[in-house]
Amino acid sequence: MARKGIILALAKGRIFNDTLELLKKSGISTDKIKKKSRELIFKLDGLTILSCKPSDVPKYVELGAADCGIVGSDCISESQCDIYEPIGLNFGLCKMIVAAKKGEKIEFKAGKEIKVATKYPKIASEYFIRRKMSPEIIYLNGSVELAPLIGLSDVIVDITETGETIRKNNLKVIDTVMNISAKFIVNKTSYRTLFKHIQSLSSSLKK
Ligand code: PRP
Repeated sequence: MARKGIILALAKGRIFNDTLELLKKSGISTDKIKKKSRELIFKLDGLTILSCKPSDVPKYVELGAADCGIVGSDCISESQCDIYEPIGLNFGLCKMIVAAKKGEKIEFKAGKEIKVATKYPKIASEYFIRRKMSPEIIYLNGSVELAPLIGLSDVIVDITETGETIRKNNLKVIDTVMNISAKFIVNKTSYRTLFKHIQSLSSSLKK
């Protein structure tokens, strides 16, 4: 189907405001998006914006429902989607960490079983399997920090930004799994077929 412009999937949630600011600075008017925040599709000049759950953005882009997207690298890594990541953006900066209850001795030894509560099962499994440990992954949707406090898990693998949730809940960071930032991602076919549009959008985002 021939169409005008490109489709950009944006992650709702913690990076949404910074993403809109970036688009605004790049010369794209985002007023329509703010006003009608319960809507999921916004038609702008030469650009259609999809408002998505962050973890779904890489899938929309991989499957070509969107030509490109802006989403945190945590969601990209967890999705293991086949997409291009041409630009790292300077916001949404946080870390993926392993944390445990203060005072608990957590042994990182090959062969050891460990209960891990997380919203990021693939990243967490890979992290412990790389260390030749046997993780039992307990998938949670939110408030992951509760798990080690009530004995549901030994550790959590989760993101931390200000460190406030870790501090307030008597947890300690044991290790950093990865640094995270927002990224501009592109569908592999769209990168070829809509090259000029994508290039123009990505260079305006870089300015
Ligand atoms: C995220 C993350 C931590 C918290 C960390 O949760 O899962 O719980 O933010 O941020 P901090 O270091 O600034 O305290 P989010 O707010 O997305 O909600 P959730 O717990 O429901 O997943």
